[in-house]
Amino acid sequence: MNNKYVIDFPAINQQVNGHRLAYLDSAATTQKPASVIKAVNDYYNLFNANPHRGAYYLSVKATEMYENAREVVKDFIGADKSKEIVFVKNATEGFNLLAYSYGMNFISEGDEIVISIAEHHSNLVPWQQVAKARGAVLKYMYLNEDGIISDDEIENKITEKTKIVSVTHVSNVLGTINPVKKIIEKAHSVGAIAILDGAQSIPHMKVNVKDLDADFVVFSGHKMLSPMGIGVVYGKEKLLEKMPPFMFGGDMIEYVWEQEATFAEVPFKFEGGTQNVGGAVGLTAAIKYLNEVGMQNVEEHEKELVSYAIEKLSEIPHVTIYGTKDIDKKAGVLSFNVDEVHPHDVSTILDSYGIAIRAGHHCANPLMRHMKINATCRASFYIYNTKEDIDALAEALKNTRKWLGYGSK
Ligand SMILES: Cc1ncc(COP(=O)(O)O)c(C=O)c1O
Repeated sequence: MNNKYVIDFPAINQQVNGHRLAYLDSAATTQKPASVIKAVNDYYNLFNANPHRGAYYLSVKATEMYENAREVVKDFIGADKSKEIVFVKNATEGFNLLAYSYGMNFISEGDEIVISIAEHHSNLVPWQQVAKARGAVLKYMYLNEDGIISDDEIENKITEKTKIVSVTHVSNVLGTINPVKKIIEKAHSVGAIAILDGAQSIPHMKVNVKDLDADFVVFSGHKMLSPMGIGVVYGKEKLLEKMPPFMFGGDMIEYVWEQEATFAEVPFKFEGGTQNVGGAVGLTAAIKYLNEVGMQNVEEHEKELVSYAIEKLSEIPHVTIYGTKDIDKKAGVLSFNVDEVHPHDVSTILDSYGIAIRAGHHCANPLMRHMKINATCRASFYIYNTKEDIDALAEALKNTRKWLGYGSK
């Protein structure tokens, strides 16, 4: 085994269908290292209580652990203040928070919201709702033949009418790293706010929200080694301050009278009800693990794997790879198809070899239509993957057409 991290991941070290598991679906969710599982376990074994409410030892401890997670996330993404970190359930809830709290209140008739055609539905459908409710226009930046948003597209689509630009940092389908610095600068030059979908970037590369000058960044913990059910919205303090709460109820209030209520300060006014302390503890342990590996190493490892995968899959007849092959513009996500074999069949056949890939539209229907395809197979990589996983994928792929009676070529 040429990868020292594999040993840390219990789920990776198993046989599936009589084969060594090759888990190639980290863009959907990552496996969890034993240290994260232990941290969550310890929390529930020793410290579980409702945070922010109790005046006793366990509740104080749970509060400390929850608030420490905010501090750890703040440092990880280079934010200024921990109050700029809002915990949510996942990236989807994060975008809904922004759409309902910012979009529904600060977008007016005729305003334009600009996204890219490569957005995950979670950074698309909420903006459709805002555009419909507010009489605004939802505009798309399209991709060139390499799957890239060109400078012209940025210049032409983001105009004086634009009020929100919300774009993914890394495409969950093509793995393309978008020119987000340029997009954010252009958004700011016309007075729009810039939102970054960091779901596929924060887990895989060093991202500094201040260097990028993003107004909001949204991501999910479960795609970066932590448990499901915890996600993050980073927002600049001055914007969070002016936004109304999104969910109303316990914990997010200051005072409540019969007909009126005042709300807690940022970030608590956005965190209604009992929060996912176990998830926040898991996220803290996940970030500790990633910091120990080093984000530079994470990124380099994935680039090496995706280059190797492009090389191996390019050698196989009847396999089409989508998106740029320029490694500088690509993260560890590779979409491909096998001629005449539906991606679901490819995935099922690969599963019989213990290989887990994703097949389908990847929650990106408009992108699929733009590319004139229905679905793709997607292999995605993380620190626990090895070249051996890719060799297994390539070997099994050679057999997919044979399984369905197309012969070996
Ligand atoms: C780019 C991107 N954005 C947003 C999401 C939504 O994440 P979640 O399902 O955790 O809300 C995903 C999930 O695959 C994604 O890949």
